[in-house]
Amino acid sequence: MSGDLSLPAIGSFKAGAAWLEGQPAVYLRTQLQAFASGARRNDIGEQMRNIARAMTREEIDAASRYYAEHP
Ligand code: HEM
Repeated sequence: MSGDLSLPAIGSFKAGAAWLEGQPAVYLRTQLQAFASGARRNDIGEQMRNIARAMTREEIDAASRYYAEHP
């Protein structure tokens, strides 16, 4: 018994969402626009598509910059 626990990499997820902080704003904006348009659809239960569709272009821009600036 080493006491070591080989846990899976749960650190890359937070509150059900992918790890976003510090990702380049242009990447975040691209992904949000892809969810909004339906080009990206790997979100179980359409969670991100529903969020992104309800966001204006300005809100997507603001959220992308906010997460990019908070590493
Ligand atoms: C209730 C809160 C949220 C839920 C349940 C949720 C759910 C999800 C899910 C299921 C994915 C796909 C994960 C994967 O690729 O394995 C995702 C990705 C993503 N979410 Fe959310 N999300 C939430 C909030 C947010 C917020 C507030 C933002 C604001 C910018 C956001 C931006 C993104 C982005 C940019 C991706 C793509 C990440 C990547 O490709 O690395 N999400 N989210």
